[in-house]
Amino acid sequence: MAIFGKKKTEITLPEKLPEHIAFIMDGNGRWAKKRAMPRKFGHREGAKTFKKIMRYCKDIGIKNVSFYAFSTENWKRPKEEVEAIIELFREYILDVWNYIGEDVRVLFLGDKTFFDEDLQNKMNELEEETKNRREMTMLLAINYGGRDDIVHASKVLAEKVKNGELRSEDITEDLFQSYLYTLDVPDVDLMIRPSGEQRISNFLIWQSAYAEFYFTDILWPDFSTDDLNDAIIEFASRSRRFGGV
Ligand code: IPE
Ligand code: IPE
Ligand code: MG
Repeated sequence: MAIFGKKKTEITLPEKLPEHIAFIMDGNGRWAKKRAMPRKFGHREGAKTFKKIMRYCKDIGIKNVSFYAFSTENWKRPKEEVEAIIELFREYILDVWNYIGEDVRVLFLGDKTFFDEDLQNKMNELEEETKNRREMTMLLAINYGGRDDIVHASKVLAEKVKNGELRSEDITEDLFQSYLYTLDVPDVDLMIRPSGEQRISNFLIWQSAYAEFYFTDILWPDFSTDDLNDAIIEFASRSRRFGGV
């Protein structure tokens, strides 16, 4: 696919694009600090990058895109920062129709019950209204932890075994996976983490068992569509063997 980068030069993206890209949107705080601004300004700027990258992924035809917005561990942060992030999340949820377009399914990853009831209702409504859309899925991870995802699925399955709806010997990897927050979305192919950190920080740990990782020092608010092109081009050059030869 031929597209134009920021410098207006033509770039050819590889034929085979990743089916699922996951972004760890990190570096907002450092971005603000560099400008002597409070951390919440970094989050605001990072949210703009989210919108821009989401639109671009849709334009180039990426089928599934996950964004890590808030982890189960991020509750440790100062109350003011947590509240600012949740407020931003609320704004972006209310505005969602303006940037996802008509064919995008929205899935929230994580335990919603930590949020105010009106926000939970909005999230449930969005999932319900978009559930039959198949052009693209946008997965927003908020109050998400990979370990919590696995524990949550285990509890649901344990209840089913207890009620006699399921036999423990029928639990396979595929069945288990379908009970994760990601439902039928395929595994992560490409996991992108900006900000210079080289770790997964409890994001989609099951789903990225065979993901290719791409790390860059760029801070998330500065992450551009050109940077994403670089990651996709690098991804295409990797040899994925999935344990084979
Ligand atoms: C990522 O940016 C956003 C969240 C974790 C909510 P950070 O806030 O972690 O930014 P740094 O890592 O402190 O720069
Ligand atoms: C990961 O970033 C979580 C999100 C981007 C939402 P963190 O900033 O919380 O990760 P650590 O603490 O550096 O591992
Ligand atoms: Mg961070």
